[in-house]
Amino acid sequence: METMTGIKTTLTRNSKLKEVDFNHLEFGKYTSDHMLVADFYHGQWNEPQIVPFANLSMSPTALCLHYGQTVFEGMKAFRMIDGRVNIFRIDKHYERFNRSLRRMCMAEIPYEIFEEGMKELMTLDKNWVPNQEESALYVRPFMYASEARFGVKPSDEYRFIIFTGPVGQLFSKPVRMKVEREYIRAAKGGTGSTKCGGNYGGAMYPTKLAKEQGYDNVIWTDAGEHNFIEESGAMNLLFVIDGKLLSPPSSDSILHGVTKDSLLTIARDTGVDVEERPISLNEVKTAFKKGTIAEAYCVGTAAVASPIEVIGIDGEDYHLPVKEKGIVAGLKEKLENIRNGTAEDIYNWNTIVG
Ligand code: PLP
Ligand code: COI
Repeated sequence: METMTGIKTTLTRNSKLKEVDFNHLEFGKYTSDHMLVADFYHGQWNEPQIVPFANLSMSPTALCLHYGQTVFEGMKAFRMIDGRVNIFRIDKHYERFNRSLRRMCMAEIPYEIFEEGMKELMTLDKNWVPNQEESALYVRPFMYASEARFGVKPSDEYRFIIFTGPVGQLFSKPVRMKVEREYIRAAKGGTGSTKCGGNYGGAMYPTKLAKEQGYDNVIWTDAGEHNFIEESGAMNLLFVIDGKLLSPPSSDSILHGVTKDSLLTIARDTGVDVEERPISLNEVKTAFKKGTIAEAYCVGTAAVASPIEVIGIDGEDYHLPVKEKGIVAGLKEKLENIRNGTAEDIYNWNTIVG
């Protein structure tokens, strides 16, 4: 079958839709019925196809398995109150995907394949978009080096895939974060601002240690002195100190988050005092001592905006009150209203696929 945009499509004969309990969605557990696949070889992208979600086959020498040329994006599609489906900020995720690909010396993907392919896939699997509160269809575009060759070099062949899967809340309760002062996630000049797989692999051991100590995740600090707050495992950070909404500035060691950008855009436009600037651990400790820190949040596509209840610094736990009606909770509500169609999409963030 060919779709309206001419993408060759093979439909699944075994939909898994009925096997999913949409009221108990575990993050990362379920995948929808179809995926989009496109291959790059001989210097060009070939026609994408939509096929049933299935395992991949590759050579043991495929370069991605050895030297880390893998890049992904994390996006969401939402069910709107009128029943239609909306993909959030495609262009911003596309830009970041290509930025990551350039840094990892991989072939860039044309906008038509990324956007049209995603819209087509979403139209086909739109019944997979949950309508439960705090749930969404997670959209995972990714690319890997598929050339079979084991010398160290940039691959000449790549595979681009988009799959999707319904997800619920990442964190069901406020989180406990450990400030990491021994290991680092990223350094100036490194790959921290990209979504390459290695950033996540390198974070796993320190995160495991933090979990063993009773925390949910780590807050990374700068690679030089471990004195400035960067971001969390898969989330950016927001603080409310002295009535101001603060976040570390984007840099090449921090992922430029789309959720953070969206929340700060709404904040600035609704009169919240926003500062993106370096935040030292001393400033945070002093704010706890003086009682001037009111809120701390992890923000990201998967986490949306999750309140932090404990920040552990050098073995001491600092506790935050969790407020239902704070500044960030208000911004989160405004963001959700844009996504679900309750509020006007004044920023053109929604792509409605019907
Ligand atoms: N930081 C890291 C390391 C991430 O993996 C993510 C998730 O994508 C974020 C921050 C938040 O970015 P976004 O809001 O674009 O999902
Ligand atoms: C996201 O928030 O989209 C992420 O990429 C987090 C992910 C690593 C689960």
